[in-house]
Amino acid sequence: MKLIKLDAIDSTNEFLKGLSNKHELENFTVVTAESQTKGKGQMGAVWASETGKNLILSVLIKDFLLDICQIYNLNIIVSLAVIEALECCKIPDLSIKWPNDIMSYNKKIGGILIENSIKSDASIVSIVGLGLNVNQTNFENLPKASSMAVICNATFDKDDLLFMIIDNLENKIKLWEKQSDFLWSDYVSKLFKKGIPMPFSNLNNQKFMGIIQGISSIGKLEILLEDDIISEFDIKEIQMLY
Ligand code: BTN
Repeated sequence: MKLIKLDAIDSTNEFLKGLSNKHELENFTVVTAESQTKGKGQMGAVWASETGKNLILSVLIKDFLLDICQIYNLNIIVSLAVIEALECCKIPDLSIKWPNDIMSYNKKIGGILIENSIKSDASIVSIVGLGLNVNQTNFENLPKASSMAVICNATFDKDDLLFMIIDNLENKIKLWEKQSDFLWSDYVSKLFKKGIPMPFSNLNNQKFMGIIQGISSIGKLEILLEDDIISEFDIKEIQMLY
């Protein structure tokens, strides 16, 4: 693993993307920053993080996805790699809010943004961005967010966490061929609010009740609706109201 530590940057995902377009970087090249001026979240959202307190990282993953249809596999591996590291830190009540928000109790403590590009030789390069709220304690105006420090009333070593997460990621990628079934079911078993009736809203802002069952082979969320039919939803099609 090659580690590039930055102080401030617009976005570690953007920085690593730019670097990998110009240079042949080794697999698992990691970029961290103490702060971002344009941290990117999912679906065009902004990722805000207090300077110096949290883990802000991007890692380059090459030669894992053979086909863009397999993109969901990487979601599973990254989410589980993070969860496993948090379990080692004894963070309670961990779950994965589909597709890859890291939750403790009802609060989001980490977010993942995976950006893929297809190279001229058809290989896929993925930039995996992770924002993990480690030692931040002020979440004014962010009622659904929290951190490891708030939840455990303790501080954590960011470097230890970084090495644990990257180690888990490398191991899971190596073992994916042998363990994919196990990792899929492990991921599904850790889904936030699985099996519990929950309110959702669709693209037209219509509210409905449903029960999360699992995910489809391409990573869509399977929800049991009130008419006893299981429907599959894409990330852009649905929002969980909790
Ligand atoms: C989400 O919306 O939940 C995803 C958040 C991803 C944030 C991380 S922080 C490091 C990396 N660089 C970015 O600009 N975004 C990701």
